[in-house]
Amino acid sequence: MAFIVKKKIKGNEYYYLNENKRVGGKVKTKTLAYLGKTRKDAEKKMKEILSKTDAKEEKEFNQTKVSIEDLATFCKRKGFVYPSGEIYGGLAGFWDFGPLGVELKNNIKREWWKYHVYQRRDVVGIDGSIITNPKVWKASGHVDSFSDVFVICVKCKKPSKIDKAELGKAKCDFCGGDFDEKTAREFKLMFKTLVGEDTESYLRPETAQLIFANFKSVYENARMKLPFGIAQIGKAFRNEIAPRDFIFRSREFEQMEIEYFIKPNEKCNFEIPNEEILIYSAEAQEKNQNPEKMKISDALKKGIIKKDWHAYWLAIEFKFFKEFGANPENFRIRQHKKDELAHYSSDCWDLEYNFPFGWKELEGIADRKDYDLSQHEKFSGKDMKVFDEESKEKILPHVVCEPSLGVERAFLVFMFDSYFHDKKRENIILKLHPKLSPIKAAIFPIVKKPEFEKIAKEIYEMLRENWNILYDESGSIGKRYARNDEAGTPFCITIDEKTLENKTVTIRDRDTAEQIAIKISELNDALKKAVDGENILKFGKKVDTRKK
Ligand code: GAP
Repeated sequence: MAFIVKKKIKGNEYYYLNENKRVGGKVKTKTLAYLGKTRKDAEKKMKEILSKTDAKEEKEFNQTKVSIEDLATFCKRKGFVYPSGEIYGGLAGFWDFGPLGVELKNNIKREWWKYHVYQRRDVVGIDGSIITNPKVWKASGHVDSFSDVFVICVKCKKPSKIDKAELGKAKCDFCGGDFDEKTAREFKLMFKTLVGEDTESYLRPETAQLIFANFKSVYENARMKLPFGIAQIGKAFRNEIAPRDFIFRSREFEQMEIEYFIKPNEKCNFEIPNEEILIYSAEAQEKNQNPEKMKISDALKKGIIKKDWHAYWLAIEFKFFKEFGANPENFRIRQHKKDELAHYSSDCWDLEYNFPFGWKELEGIADRKDYDLSQHEKFSGKDMKVFDEESKEKILPHVVCEPSLGVERAFLVFMFDSYFHDKKRENIILKLHPKLSPIKAAIFPIVKKPEFEKIAKEIYEMLRENWNILYDESGSIGKRYARNDEAGTPFCITIDEKTLENKTVTIRDRDTAEQIAIKISELNDALKKAVDGENILKFGKKVDTRKK
C-alpha cells in the first residue's frame, strides 16, 4: 500500500510517495517518487502515479497468436477493413476502412497528435497537399532515386521488390527460390498524375517534403525557436511492386511524421525516458550477433546509439506504443546497415515489431541532417536559413530525427496485441486501450419494453454527446456482450428492473466480465475517467452476476 510522507529538510517541507513491503518476514519502506512541496500537489501527483501503476498491473499480455490472414478475415467480418472496391474484385494494395476501422484509425491518429503535438511545447503541426509542384520531388531526390529493384522468382514466377544491395543474395519470400537476375530492373515508386491538361506531377510518396518546403513559413508564423519539430498526418502513395501482408505494405497508406530541427551539433536537453528494449546495432547484425536487451540511455552511454537525440526519440516512440497498451516484448530497435540507408539519411534506427511474418519495420527514425533544406534552397533559390540569436549568424537547421510511422502498421500492432480468444466465453475479445476502442460503450435495455427503452435511449443520447456510443437491443444479453467484446467495446451498460427502482444501471467490464451498479447521475464522470484508463470497477458497487 502506497502512502504520502512529509520530510523537513533545512526548514523546507518535501513530500514523497512511500510503500511498505514485507521482505523475508520484515516490513521494509521504499520511496517510490518525489511528490512536490505541498500536500495538494502531493495528493494530485500520487493519484496520477497510482492510476498509471494500476493500469499497468492489470494489463496482462495474454494476446492470442493469430496469422495475418486470420486477422484480415476477422477485420472484414467485423467491419474494420475491406479490400477496396471488392464488388469489382478489389485492387492489390488498396483497402477501405469500415465503421469500426475508421474509428480505430481516427483514434490512433488523435492520440498520436495529442502525444506528439499538444503535450509538447516544441512541436506544431501542418497539413500539406497530396499533389504539389513536381519540383519538390526533383529537389528531394525522389524523382531520381525513389525506386526498388523489380525481380521475378525463377521457381514460382511471382514478382518481388528487393533493395539494390540484395541483388544476387535475396531469396523469394513465397517459395525460397532464386531471383532471375536477367529480369531485374529499376522500378520507380511514385505514382504519376496529370494536373490540368499537361502538367505532370506525382502523388506524394511521403508527407515529409511538405514540411521541408513550408519550413520557413512555419518557423516564422508559429514563432518557433530551435530545437523544434513540425508534425503532419496524411496520405502517402507508393506504387509498391509487391503489396502484401494485408495492410502492412499497401499502395495507399497514411503516415504520421515529425521533422525535428536543431542547430547543427546542438545537444539534446530532454531527459531520455527510462525505457528498456532489445537493441540491434548495425555492427551486431554484421557480426551475426543477437540483439541485446538494455536501457536506451545505456546504449547511448556505450556508444551503440551515437546521438543523444536518436536515443531520446527512440525512447519516446517506444513509450507511445506502451502507453496505449502494446506489449513491450514485441518491440526492438534496429539500426540500418550502411547499404540499407535511404538516399537522404546518414543514420537510421527502426522501431521494429515482431509481426507473425517476422520482425519488420514499424517506424523509421532517420537522421536527415540538412539534406532536405539545402536541396530545397538549391532548387527553389529561396533562403531556408534562420537567424540564430546566440551566435548572431544565419544557420541552416539540421533534421536530427524524423520519427515516421505508418498509421496502418500502428493499427496492426494494436490489433495483434489486443486480440484474445477467450475459451470460456467462446469469442474473441479485443482488449484495446479504451482511448483507442472504436465504440466506448454499448447501451442495452434488458428487454425490448418501452419502460427500459425510454431510459436506455436517454442515456444513449446523454453519452453520445461525448463519445461514439452504440445502442443495441437485439438478441440475448450474452450475444450482445460477445458482439461488443469482438468490437473492443470496453463497457456495456444495461438498463434493467433495478434501474426503474433506484435509477442505477450495471456496467460490465470487457476484460474481466465483472459488473458494477452505478447511479445514472454518476455515469458520465465515471465513463470519462474509465476511457482515460482508470479501472471502471472502482466507480460503483460490485454486482454478483451469479444471482442474476
Ligand atoms: N519520410 C520518411 C519515410 O517515408 P519510410 O521508412 O519510407 O520513411 C516511413 O516510411 C513509415 O511509413 C514506415 O516505417 C511504415 O510505417 C510506413 N510505410 C512505408 N511504406 C509503406 C507501405 N507501402 N504501406 C504501409 N505503410 C508504409
